[in-house]
This record gives sequence, structure tokens and C-alpha cells, in this order.
Amino acid sequence: DTTILDFEFEAHPNPVGAADRTALLADLGFGKVFTDHMVVIRYTADRGWHDARVQPRGPIQLDPACAVLHYAQEIFEGLKAYRLPDGGAALFRAEANARRFAESAERMAMPPIPDALFLESIRALVRADRDWIPDGEGSSLYLRPFMFASETFLGVRPAQEYLYMVIASPAGAYFKGGAPSVTLWTSEHYTRAARGGTGAAKCGGNYAASLIAQAEAIREGCDQVVFLDAVENRYVEELGGMNVFFAFEDGSLQTPPLGGTILPGITRESLIRLARDAGVTVREEPYGIDQWQADAASGRLREAFACGTAAVVTPIGRVRGRGFDFSIGNGGPGMLTERLRQQLTEIQRGVAPDPHGWVERL
Ligand code: COI
Repeated sequence: DTTILDFEFEAHPNPVGAADRTALLADLGFGKVFTDHMVVIRYTADRGWHDARVQPRGPIQLDPACAVLHYAQEIFEGLKAYRLPDGGAALFRAEANARRFAESAERMAMPPIPDALFLESIRALVRADRDWIPDGEGSSLYLRPFMFASETFLGVRPAQEYLYMVIASPAGAYFKGGAPSVTLWTSEHYTRAARGGTGAAKCGGNYAASLIAQAEAIREGCDQVVFLDAVENRYVEELGGMNVFFAFEDGSLQTPPLGGTILPGITRESLIRLARDAGVTVREEPYGIDQWQADAASGRLREAFACGTAAVVTPIGRVRGRGFDFSIGNGGPGMLTERLRQQLTEIQRGVAPDPHGWVERL
């Protein structure tokens, strides 16, 4: 794994002055504001990975027969750069994103980008755009590496040309107004993934398939859809774009197991580790929607939360579906949820010890 390319750097004649940038960073939601630069690296079957650049961010030209536009051979990642207390910048578990990106590539019959090149591309972009890392609590620079089939060809087979890119977006809370808790809508008609499918890969197609169910959730006045398994339509899988945890009165945690249909979240895995470090029992076992409702009613279930790079840790206050509607705990943030959220975000921002070496200072 020695193929680190030298990045050509073309500085952007920055049209956004420092004062304007400060104004933009003051009102952050998710995914609306972008930085000055982007990474582009090309792949062709004959030359492999080549032509690595950090260049001004802007539109790209694609041929109308570009394979991704037809057969959706595309994968992406999400990770964040954080502002440290001394003004420095840090990445959180970027190696884990590199690994998952390679696994997604394999599932989608794409050439994996070497982990070292993925990591260098992230570092190069953060260095170029470090002034864009916001420093408010709960805000960070969201990095979006992605890769797609760029070959001009309509035959159905793995493409022989790809573009890998990274863009960056200063981001605040994923949910509007940093909602203290969210309400879920249980999808009855749609599932997210079945065994043998692409559920464990971070490919755009999974999110495209989730949109109709997420739109139904919004129509029902809810914040996020929750998907059930494709076989029995009973076991909780994940939400539209995040994993889910349950916290019980005996102090234990539970989360659905990774069985190929669930996105192996890096936030999910980090929280399992932090909880186990603190002596909390964590089960990775199936949990039925019927059980969820019964446990919420009996009080056995105390808390539930969603987690992901974008969502961080967000309490789930209420769950609805066709013919049911229940609240969890008092409907607000629970103690274990808040403890885990605080511990994770303090490690990420460099204000708490980092026992697992997850934070890389840039
Ligand atoms: C993330 O948490 O990084 C995601 O990819 C979820 C969503 C924004 C697509």
C-alpha cells in the first residue's frame, strides 16, 4: 500500500472573504455550505489511480452516457474534521472510513482506492480548507469522499474508468434547530435492504431507495423513517441514514446486529466501545418493533437514540406507525444517551482523553 500520489495543488482565488465566511459559519445546518476546494483523482483500468489534484470546487462535466447516470455505480463516505481547543484541526477515525470505503467498492465491483491515498486526500483537503472548520460546539467540517463510474459506456458491466472526489461542508446539527429528540415513522411498505443486497455498502442507491419512505415519514409529521427487516417485517434495522440503540432499565444497551443488511456505522462501533469501556453491557441482537412497543409501555426501555456521523447522537422520543404511537421514557433526552454523546463529542473535539487513539491531529 505505498501508492501515495503527489497532489497537484491549485489554490482557489477565494471569492469568499474572511468576514463573509464568518457569517456563513454562523448559521449552519447540514450540507448547504461548501468550501473552496475539492479533491479529484482519476482511475482507468490501464493506468490505475493517477492525476491527484486539489483544485477549486466547481461543476464537473459528464458525458450523458456516463455509466453512473444509468447504473448507479457509486459509493460515498462521511467523516468530520474538528477544531481543537488550541485552534488545530483533527480527524476522527478516518482509517475506519478508508476501510469501509474499500469494502463498499468491492461490493459495487469498483477498484478500491488504497487506504493511504484515501487518507492523504482527506488530509490534503482539510489542510487547504482549514479556515472553514467551524469552532462552535456541535459544529465541524463534514467531509464527503465519493467515487463513481465515469466511463462513457452503456453496457452493463463494471466500468473501467472512475472518478474519486472529496468535497467539504461546514456543518452544524443534522436535524433542524438541533432538535432535542426526534420522532420516527415505522415504514410498513418499504424495506431498506435484504440479505445478499447492498445494505452494508455505503452506496448512493441505498439512499435513493430510502427516500420514498423518508418522504412518507415527513408527510406523517415525523423526522426519520425506521426500517424493519425484509423477511419478517418485524426486526428494527436502521433509520433513513443512521443506526439505532436502545437503553434499558438494567443499564444495558442493545443495537441491531450487522448481518449484511445494516450499514456498519463508525459512530455505532465507537459508542459500543465507549459503553463497554464504562462497564455497560451491550448486546448486538435483533429487536422487534412489537418488543420495542411493549418495553416502552412497561418502562423496561428507558431510552433510545439514533447515531451517525451526521446525526452524532440524537435521542428518539417517540415512535409512530400504522396503528400505533408510543413515547420512550419522558420523550426527552435520557441520561445514558447524554453521557455517551458527551463522551464521544469531547473525544472528537480533543477536550477528553482519547484512549483508543481515534483522533489524528493534522
Ligand atoms: C453520515 O452520517 O455521514 C451519513 O452518511 C448519513 C447521511 C447524511 C447520508
